[in-house]
Amino acid sequence: MHLIATAPIAPIPARTRWAVAAGVGAALTAAWWLGDTAPYPYAQRGLLDVPLPFLTADRMDAVLQPRPGERMLEIGPGTGLQSLHVAPQLGPEGRLDVLDIQQEMLDHVMCRAGRDGLATIRPTRSDARELPYADGTFDAVYAVTALGEIPEPDRVLREAARVLAPGGRLVIGEFFDRHWIPLGRLHRLADAAGLHLTERRGPSPAYLARFRPCGADGPGHQSERLAHSDRDTNDGEA
Ligand SMILES: C[S@@+](CC[C@H](N)C(=O)[O-])C[C@H]1O[C@@H](n2cnc3c(N)ncnc32)[C@H](O)[C@@H]1O
Repeated sequence: MHLIATAPIAPIPARTRWAVAAGVGAALTAAWWLGDTAPYPYAQRGLLDVPLPFLTADRMDAVLQPRPGERMLEIGPGTGLQSLHVAPQLGPEGRLDVLDIQQEMLDHVMCRAGRDGLATIRPTRSDARELPYADGTFDAVYAVTALGEIPEPDRVLREAARVLAPGGRLVIGEFFDRHWIPLGRLHRLADAAGLHLTERRGPSPAYLARFRPCGADGPGHQSERLAHSDRDTNDGEA
């Protein structure tokens, strides 16, 4: 019988074990942070009513420019923070369609609209990647802290461009959370969808940006070219 001599296995130092555990934990957290595509949970709706820095109602008005009689579409209204502010500005002849993938969010918006006596909001449950509207339906489409949460934002932008009337406008608001789309990336996605940037307010971590379908800026739209008045310098992405 042959005896094989084996060297004793050295114990793994505690510091190495902690480093490995921390690395695995960080990788799992990053995978969750970057890969979660579930819609914003209705159970956490209370946070949606807290206005975000830079994405104020005044800035929204300045970029979206809602006018009486217009028909608009809001994608991903959540609990209606923007809907309830925009709809009254469209007046009794105007109309705001709100589209969300979660029925609870739509019910919440409609309940608040009923309390405010607003009869011009129309809810539709659907996926923003396939908008159930005819080409050229809307004067404006907007989505605030919603685009980054939807898988395939490029598809959403193409759909938004399709349902916009000629010369219509798309407004996207993004905030630095785990679904944030930096302005530079949005700019590239929008270009590919046939939309060009005409205005933006706020720095890249919290901005509102307005786009127009390419070819819509004839003589009447020259003033829409990217306004520099309120641009912040620290986005580095545009
Ligand atoms: C973070 S909330 C933003 C709510 C609101 N715009 C605000 O600023 O308070 C994102 C919204 O997008 C909706 N959403 C997520 N995925 C969607 C999809 N594929 N199609 C339509 N809406 C979607 C969610 O249900 C949620 O209401």
